[in-house]
Amino acid sequence: MKSLLSFFARAKKMAAQGKKVLGFTLTSPEFEPPAQLKKYAASAYKYSFPYLPAGGDFQLRQRIADFYSRSWGKKFNQDNVFVGAGGKEVIFVLLSTLLEQGKQGQEVIIVSPYWATYPKVVDILGGKKVFIRTSDKNNFALDVDKIEKAITKKTKTVIINTPGNPSGQIIPEDKIRKLAFLAKKKDVIILFDEVYEAYDYEGLFVSALKHFNKNVFCVFSASKSFSLCGWRVGWGIGDKELVKKMINIQSEITTSPNAISQLALKELFSKPKQIQEYLVSINKKAKMRRNLAVRLFKKNKVDFVYIQGGIAIFVKIPDSFKNAFSFAEKLLEEQKVSVAPGEFFGWKNYFRMNLASSPKNIREGIKRIANYYK
Ligand SMILES: Cc1ncc(COP(=O)(O)O)c(C=O)c1O
Repeated sequence: MKSLLSFFARAKKMAAQGKKVLGFTLTSPEFEPPAQLKKYAASAYKYSFPYLPAGGDFQLRQRIADFYSRSWGKKFNQDNVFVGAGGKEVIFVLLSTLLEQGKQGQEVIIVSPYWATYPKVVDILGGKKVFIRTSDKNNFALDVDKIEKAITKKTKTVIINTPGNPSGQIIPEDKIRKLAFLAKKKDVIILFDEVYEAYDYEGLFVSALKHFNKNVFCVFSASKSFSLCGWRVGWGIGDKELVKKMINIQSEITTSPNAISQLALKELFSKPKQIQEYLVSINKKAKMRRNLAVRLFKKNKVDFVYIQGGIAIFVKIPDSFKNAFSFAEKLLEEQKVSVAPGEFFGWKNYFRMNLASSPKNIREGIKRIANYYK
């Protein structure tokens, strides 16, 4: 199967040919980043020429540790924090650390629907994917017992994503607590991908950091929290020994992410109150878009999974199409609307639409999509 990015490239190419394409393919938030960053990035310029330490600038790591300690009531320090070139690199480095090179049959448990990158990374690293399918009949509710049963001696990690992309679901705290406990009991690392931590529309989100133990690893992202996709910064929080191993691997890949981004974010993290205010403001904007999309899809009698968090809505394809690929292709060709086919996330009868776009685009996009449901 082609990658999601190649599908995205096609829409971009059409746009470059002068065709007006409404793009909802990737989950890149389009909010204004925190205003202070302009100033911070400019003053970081003259300090940004040397390599920064592998694993990230020490002070940035400490400030991230302080921020999350305060948020979730556990004590972290810089040794618990790994800074990578986006949440994606953090995940890649973590999996590279957990999967031993050249060893066969190492299992990674992935809950479906899943973010398209997880199975690709497992393939690249030679691991074995074990999918746990959820049901759209109960909004993809996670069954922790199923995860427990799937864990074997060969399991290297379990990937949990909350708020979920593309599911739009937030895993309730009782299940997060159980999962953290399960990780310890089975002595397996559970990766909690929490890059959409800022997008919680029902007040449900609880980070696994609140129930932290050495088998819990959480990932976050400047792309999603601060709309800085191009800056390529993400961070993970986990056990110190695990972070040390990850740093050894990263030092052979990128050494450290881009210095200007890190130095500017270091200043931002010195003002935790401003960050909190910013996150509240984007959550409000995103919730408005969520409400708009939900209202319009309902009005047009289009089936979708109710979205509690994150910035992606998972929508059922029209009955007249046999799979999401054929629907997405047709939608792009005929209506100049680009969405992500569900095949990339393990569900061929759904497509994913990014909602962190302008309300005007969302209105127009849904209007064109709705043409196929009449
Ligand atoms: C679920 C999930 N995890 C991680 C990422 C990685 O984001 P980034 O590498 O931009 O921080 C994404 C980006 O789309 C995502 O959707």
